[in-house]
Amino acid sequence: MASAHAESVQPLAVTASAKSPAQMIDRDSECTRCHDENETKPILSIYQTAHGNKADARTPSCQSCHGESVKHLASKSDAPDVIFGAKKAVYTPNKTQDQNVACLSCHEKDPKRTHWQGGAHQAADLSCTSCHVVHSAHDKVREKPTQALVCFTCHQDQKAQANKFSHHPIPEGKIACSDCHNPHGSAGPKLLVKNTVTETCYTCHAEKRGPFLWEHQPVTEDCSNCHTPHGSNITPLLKSRPPFMCDECHDGTHNSVSPVAGNAAGIQGGLTGAPANPSASYTGRACMNCHSMVHGSNNPAGALLQR
Ligand code: HEC
Ligand code: HEC
Ligand code: HEC
Ligand code: HEC
Ligand code: HEC
Ligand code: HEC
Ligand code: HEC
Ligand code: HEC
Ligand code: HEC
Ligand code: HEC
Repeated sequence: MASAHAESVQPLAVTASAKSPAQMIDRDSECTRCHDENETKPILSIYQTAHGNKADARTPSCQSCHGESVKHLASKSDAPDVIFGAKKAVYTPNKTQDQNVACLSCHEKDPKRTHWQGGAHQAADLSCTSCHVVHSAHDKVREKPTQALVCFTCHQDQKAQANKFSHHPIPEGKIACSDCHNPHGSAGPKLLVKNTVTETCYTCHAEKRGPFLWEHQPVTEDCSNCHTPHGSNITPLLKSRPPFMCDECHDGTHNSVSPVAGNAAGIQGGLTGAPANPSASYTGRACMNCHSMVHGSNNPAGALLQR
């Protein structure tokens, strides 16, 4: 797996982190004598980030990320060992894998990166810098109000969904993609932070977990039987409109118990207390006018999710 290049990068972090803070600043000065505040792109602003906290012995020097760059130090016409990014600026960027090794040499042990290898983003050849910028005090992808903008550059479908009538408050900056997904990889499906969709939903909607005296089977099974996570024009985040949604599983409902036949759409023809005009069950809350406890009921008389 490790290319010759990767091998040349890997031990650096170890060397760097063995140095004292004062030695680290000294090391940087080898580079910052040229790459100073006169650069067109921000370089020294890295000192305003966690990577510039020289009081912390784990903090990288320029060379822990860019490599020792002996040739570059000797002659500007030679590139530094590690050039990040996707576009050719002055020198050709290194292969994604080699860029990532430079970061992972310190960050692979972090619990959140355990599943990076083999995760969807690693498999799609993304680099850490597809999302992160490190030479800026503002790393948009780590800030809640701006994170989605970074994701949306590649995920246009989710952008469209997040703008639908009913949506999780992502555009409003109240929750972030990373509240549900770990972009670095996960043990669950679709990079979810938990092992299942439902467990992920419970992290915020704990009241839906129950246990209920009367469970509604599709709810305990999977929230996405009825809901879609990113956005829908049917409120609240529903996959289709009741009563049709309910009838996908309860086709012909009430036929068995009611003397008056329903039809395929589940119109409540002759039930006690049913609306005189059956079409009323198509409007507004439809089936939930009566079966209001759609997620489960704790009322001893709630077997039919009516209370
Ligand atoms: C003698 C001056 C000098 C020194 C010392 C120096 N560089 Fe450079 N470096 C340059 C020049 C000139 C370029 C060409 C691009 C430019 O003008 O920024 C460059 C380019 C780079 C680039 C790529 C910029 C791009 O746009 O692709 C990186 C990364 C870089 N240097 C890192 C380093 C690191 C890390 C060190 C310390 C190990 C270092 N440099 C030391 C002069 C220097
Ligand atoms: C934590 C890793 C890391 C450290 C430490 C680091 N860099 Fe960088 N450097 C990067 C990455 C990643 C990029 C690509 C642009 C970005 O993410 O901001 C980059 C870009 C650059 C560039 C090109 C500017 C551009 O935007 O194209 C230069 C020059 C540079 N670094 C020099 C330095 C110097 C000098 C130091 C030490 C003061 C340093 N770097 C420390 C990771 C690092
Ligand atoms: C020499 C070790 C080292 C290397 C190499 C390194 N980092 Fe870091 N990084 C650190 C340390 C130390 C911190 C501070 C961690 C902490 O506070 O727990 C950090 C913090 C971060 C943070 C969080 C910043 C914050 O404000 O909390 C991000 C994001 C990050 N690194 C990304 C990267 C990326 C991307 C690369 C590669 C371009 C990289 N790192 C390379 C050591 C390193
Ligand atoms: C698809 C976008 C994306 C990619 C690719 C990505 N990250 Fe992140 N990263 C994020 C987001 C979003 C956050 C903030 C939310 C969080 O902490 O999970 C973050 C946070 C971090 C943090 C600080 C908080 C923490 O988790 O400890 C570090 C360190 C980090 N990333 C390192 C990396 C490294 C190293 C790589 C490459 C192997 C990488 N990231 C690739 C999106 C990304
Ligand atoms: C409330 C939790 C939640 C939030 C917030 C969230 N997602 Fe998701 N996402 C899910 C769930 C659950 C799935 C899997 C079920 C599905 O595909 O509908 C998923 C699936 C995905 C998929 C895979 C879709 C597919 O068809 O395979 C992508 C890509 C995605 N999300 C991106 C994003 C982006 C980008 C954001 C932020 C704008 C985001 N998600 C915010 C819960 C969430
Ligand atoms: C540089 C482009 C790029 C960026 C930026 C990006 N992604 Fe992705 N993402 C991809 C690619 C490529 C895939 C794999 C193919 C696919 O499913 O579309 C993917 C897949 C996913 C998946 C589905 C995983 C699966 O198992 O099917 C989720 C969820 C996801 N990304 C979330 C995010 C989130 C959240 C962010 C922002 C923090 C983000 N992505 C940023 C390119 C990107
Ligand atoms: C990070 C926390 C978080 C997670 C995880 C989460 N939600 Fe939400 N959810 C919210 C917030 C915040 C709201 C908006 C509440 C408000 O506006 O009062 C919301 C609203 C909703 C709504 C009502 C939407 C509307 O238009 O009124 C539904 C339905 C919903 N979430 C379902 C889910 C499902 C299904 C999952 C799992 C895929 C999930 N949520 C995961 C935080 C979360
Ligand atoms: C059988 C379909 C179905 C399933 C499965 C389902 N829901 Fe719902 N959910 C609904 C309906 C219908 C509404 C609207 C209720 C209303 O209008 O009275 C709703 C409303 C919501 C709301 C917003 C109003 C409220 O009650 O807070 C949230 C949040 C929510 N569901 C979360 C979840 C979570 C989390 C799961 C998985 C544990 C889940 N739902 C599973 C059908 C379902
Ligand atoms: C994904 C399939 C599915 C969807 C969608 C669904 N249900 Fe159910 N529902 C079930 C299953 C399975 C049971 C348990 C049936 C059993 O125990 O015989 C059930 C039970 C019920 C019960 C209790 C009846 C009994 O005999 O225990 C009511 C009332 C009910 N559902 C109403 C609704 C309403 C209202 C909706 C729409 C908001 C809905 N269901 C959507 C699958 C679904
Ligand atoms: C006007 C009130 C009302 C409306 C609207 C209503 N129901 Fe019912 N439902 C009842 C009552 C009352 C029962 C108990 C059975 C009976 O007395 O006939 C019942 C029983 C049920 C049962 C369990 C009995 C069986 O048939 O297996 C299910 C499932 C059910 N309803 C689903 C639905 C669905 C799906 C809708 C929407 C299409 C709906 N109900 C609309 C009042 C209503």
